[in-house]
Amino acid sequence: MKTVFTLIVSVMALVAFVGFAAAESFGPEAAAVVEALRKQAASEDASFADFSAERGKKIFFTEQPNDKHGKISCATCHTPDLKQKGRTLEGKTIEPLSPAVNKSRLTSATDIQKWLKRNFKQVFGREGSAREKGDVLIFINAN
Ligand code: HEC
Repeated sequence: MKTVFTLIVSVMALVAFVGFAAAESFGPEAAAVVEALRKQAASEDASFADFSAERGKKIFFTEQPNDKHGKISCATCHTPDLKQKGRTLEGKTIEPLSPAVNKSRLTSATDIQKWLKRNFKQVFGREGSAREKGDVLIFINAN
């Protein structure tokens, strides 16, 4: 009886997990990154409910003063349309950020963490918070 109960609970948990993962449709590595960020965001802010693509979009388009380049935002390099190729400030081509057209996007936890850290610092002069990083990842994944 106990085994049956455990089995039912496991199946329910699995269904809930798969349903949740499907809703966000991240690959396994990105899903793990987002989940860790979600836990961190919740521990940093008791009022945190969940990530928001709307907030992520705002972050993505927020322009900040930049010494050499006037004003920059995430969209400066990645373009306002994430399905298009972007350009670094030095003019090198960046493949599209959108996972919908670039299957290699958001597939490596190492790349996601490395570039979010570097890019947030470049635009905002500081690292992103767990909430901000989660918000932009949800936004990028939806575009
Ligand atoms: C100065 C140009 C520049 C700016 C500004 C910039 N990025 Fe990037 N970003 C890059 C480059 C270059 C790469 C790495 C090359 C590549 O992956 O094509 C990259 C990679 C990434 C990746 C890795 C994606 C993956 O899985 O391959 C993410 C996520 C990302 N950027 C998000 C952002 C966000 C969010 C912002 C704004 C806070 C931002 N970027 C601002 C240039 C920029």
